[in-house]
Amino acid sequence: MCGIVGAFRRTGDVLPTLLDGLKVLEYRGYDSVGVGLVQGPGLTIRRRAGRIDELASRVLAEQAQGGLNGSVAGIGHSRWATHGPPTDENAHPHMDAGGRIALIHNGIIENYAELREELIGAGVEFHSETDTEVLAHLIGRELAAGGRLADAVRRALPRVRGYYAIAALAHEDGEVQLVCAREGPPLCVAVDEDGAWLASDVLAILPHTREVIFLEDGDVAELEPGKVRVTDGKGVEVDRPARTIEWEMEASDKGSFPHYMLKEIHEQPDVVSRTLYERLDLDAGDVRLDGDFWSDESLGNVRRVQVLACGTAFHAGLVARYLIEGLAGVPVDVDYASEFRYRSPILAPGTLALGVSQSGETADTLAALRLAGKLGCARASICNAIGSTMVRESDATLLIHAGPEIGVASTKAFVAMLVAAYLMAVRLGRAHGRISQEEGRELLAGLRQIRPHLEHMLTREAQDHIRDIARRHSSVKGFLFLGRGINYPIALEGALKLKEISYVHAEGYPAGEMKHGPIALIEPGMTTLVIASQDSVADKVRANIEQVRARGGQVIAVGADPGSLELAEDKIEVPEVGPWLSPLLNVVPLQLFSYFVALEKGCDIDKPRNLAKSVTVE
Ligand code: F6R
Repeated sequence: MCGIVGAFRRTGDVLPTLLDGLKVLEYRGYDSVGVGLVQGPGLTIRRRAGRIDELASRVLAEQAQGGLNGSVAGIGHSRWATHGPPTDENAHPHMDAGGRIALIHNGIIENYAELREELIGAGVEFHSETDTEVLAHLIGRELAAGGRLADAVRRALPRVRGYYAIAALAHEDGEVQLVCAREGPPLCVAVDEDGAWLASDVLAILPHTREVIFLEDGDVAELEPGKVRVTDGKGVEVDRPARTIEWEMEASDKGSFPHYMLKEIHEQPDVVSRTLYERLDLDAGDVRLDGDFWSDESLGNVRRVQVLACGTAFHAGLVARYLIEGLAGVPVDVDYASEFRYRSPILAPGTLALGVSQSGETADTLAALRLAGKLGCARASICNAIGSTMVRESDATLLIHAGPEIGVASTKAFVAMLVAAYLMAVRLGRAHGRISQEEGRELLAGLRQIRPHLEHMLTREAQDHIRDIARRHSSVKGFLFLGRGINYPIALEGALKLKEISYVHAEGYPAGEMKHGPIALIEPGMTTLVIASQDSVADKVRANIEQVRARGGQVIAVGADPGSLELAEDKIEVPEVGPWLSPLLNVVPLQLFSYFVALEKGCDIDKPRNLAKSVTVE
């Protein structure tokens, strides 16, 4: 969702810092962008619909002509529209009627309509259709009533119902005040001797410092160079220690790749190594995970696992079900977090709630995990973002160490989630006495083969082969993705990737369900992509391919089963690694396939329309 940045320095000009920060956070929302700056005796805003580069070239040109110079403090916003279309007027920052503050916001104000009505009744004139402008007026009016900006924020926010991360900037009587607050969406702050920064993602702060404070719900932070004061809603100071972030900035750079998505697909061999790092105890045939939570005694009490996730992470959760049930013998339920949170789930005693999330900030997943916690479950997570809300709220986390994922279509985080799920399944299986030491050794030895296989699947030659197939199928009218067993979620993931970035209709189905409806779609001009592993259902998958071909449909087979590959017009061979590990390899050609179809169609691969990474609103 929207990206937020803010900076306050002792001297110098924060505009380039804000623009750099917005560029880094553009993946969070990219339909409009704006900055608010301390200028002269007051504040100046520049905002417009469109991408950051367009705004950047305008404001930098203005600077070159002598304008917008020397701002020691400012805020910046990249928007993913919720209320009101992406227009110049709806872009953030928004100012209050008195022009006292500029405000940026990520989230949704649920009672904005009634607040707006009330403010209009009090004579306030609105200039946008956003829910954010309501906040700007509320806080501006409180500031006019007296006190500091932080007091005004604390007085205004209790009137608001909804989710927000906000930053407000005021400049009166020569004093600059920069305040931010959080209820829901993520927000972090940092200081060093010369400055103070705030952002919705650590990536925008890392160029300045690695010591980052993650705000919690209800926090209000006042920033000035070298100092940050965090209070609760009543103004009582709270202690929020800084954490050291190890991520390398280069990891958020495209390098020599044309798109983040392709770069992140190619990072997968390294990501697998990082997820496994120091976690394999091959002698013991077991997985080393830090903390009592993962001990035999504690995991021995887990009778059931309830996975909660959204989108691609949900598909990883489905694979986790096959792994945990198959290897550890522990029953698993998997729910879309957005559904789970609004039904009345019945969770048996001994249920472990497992959140799966790249960002650790997905609003639905967080809400579902909180609900499971209220219902008495222990909470664990598989997550990429250190310091994220999910990590902080979980009793234990298996960090996947995928590094920053910038491409909106998730790739490397998915593969890392599968590795983490495999590790968890083995640990649970060992704790429950379901996996012997010898079996553990074999399972873990298999994992160590994944990296070389991935490297082999990402050679130039392998990539060109997939590109050629993608080119020939890029203008078909639709795709069916079929998979069985542990590769059924991979069919769902393949279809999701294709939809997301190439805007082609694609359905993922369990192959056995084809005859119950989707077979009616098969005709010439419809492509069916079949995941064909060498497993107990391989002959059934071959039968599915025959059925599609008999009806004139084209088939692309992806997998290690020679019989299926033989039957298909197009084939993408995948190394044989056994059923449990096959999803880890089978998904890679599907990622590349969707990438190349999107490339062929000229789509904006890293910033697909209507999407944003990290869905921090409902
Ligand atoms: C798809 C994609 C989304 C996310 C989903 C959950 O490529 O990226 O479907 O997987 O929004 O996000 P996280 O994993 O951050 O909870």
